[in-house]
Amino acid sequence: MNQSKKAMDWGNLGFSYIETDVRFSARWHDGDWDEGELVASSEMRVHEGSPVLHYGQACFEGLKAQTAPNDDILLFRPELNCQRMKRTTERLLMPTVPESLFMNGVESVVRANAAWVPPYGSGASLYIRPFLVGVGENLGLRPAPEYEFRVFVSPVGPYYKGGGLSLIDLAVIDLDRAAPKGLGAFKAGANYAGGLMATQMAQSLGAQEALYLDPAEHRFLEEAGSANIVLKMKDGTIVTPESESILPSVTRRSVMTLASDVLGLNTIERPVELLKEVDDIDEFAACGTAAVISPVGKIRVGDHWYRFHGNGESIGPTTQALYDHLTEIQKGEREDPFGWTRAV
Ligand code: PLP
Ligand code: COI
Repeated sequence: MNQSKKAMDWGNLGFSYIETDVRFSARWHDGDWDEGELVASSEMRVHEGSPVLHYGQACFEGLKAQTAPNDDILLFRPELNCQRMKRTTERLLMPTVPESLFMNGVESVVRANAAWVPPYGSGASLYIRPFLVGVGENLGLRPAPEYEFRVFVSPVGPYYKGGGLSLIDLAVIDLDRAAPKGLGAFKAGANYAGGLMATQMAQSLGAQEALYLDPAEHRFLEEAGSANIVLKMKDGTIVTPESESILPSVTRRSVMTLASDVLGLNTIERPVELLKEVDDIDEFAACGTAAVISPVGKIRVGDHWYRFHGNGESIGPTTQALYDHLTEIQKGEREDPFGWTRAV
């Protein structure tokens, strides 16, 4: 074991907060960003009137760092997280975090916490959480007078219990995650507060997460509480739901590229009418930074459980191949023909 690493049981981490040595903090004030700095304290001091506390003016991102066989620390497509945060900040009337500040925040906090980056082969990774909150003295409903951009990291294992490539189940709940023309396509903190009850209801039905249908008609497949959906249809086509109210997942975009350009499969992003098409689905997968690619064994709609590949009890070969290609590129085990990884 690498002596410069913390003494952790890397193989048995869950997806929980572990306090690391430092985090990055930058402030926006009077129209300008300061250059930001690494800070020791995991506590933030904010004014009691801060818009983030009352009106939810907050957004965040999530990405991972992994250790390659040569001990390089690799980030996966961080520029896409920066671009997505820019879209979210525009929607929430928050100042955009310049790309140089975003990248410096992410890279400096990973570098300074190198001892917390799980070693190669451990199966764990370093989760990176950049976020932006509106702070400062305020009462009326208006954008905040000041902002704090922070990045902290935490070593993590699998998001879902059971780990790695274990099968998960999803349940459609009678609650919406997003509204038409609402915040669904943005990584606004408020979306997640709204989803807590749906997740709890899904879990009470024995599923891991809620599966959402479109908020206008409740006919079309959207996404899960923390992951997008990718389907392999029985005709071999790879389909991902097209919708204006789902988060544009970095993982899903990467998986679709791997499916078409590496596996040579026919891929399409289009509306998926769930009940009409459910019997045409062979493999059902949830994908995201935390979820990676999680095969979905079954989904509950109404009172019925619909089962996918292998009667909902085994991982389909296409899901397995996509998982292997994606995770091997992320860990630097496989050639990265798209230039997706970036060494810190
Ligand atoms: N959908 C939601 C609602 C999410 O919170 C996430 C996680 O970030 C995703 C999808 C997956 O996105 P990404 O692959 O960019 O992590
Ligand atoms: C991620 O996958 O990065 C997310 O933000 C999901 C979150 C709910 C853990």
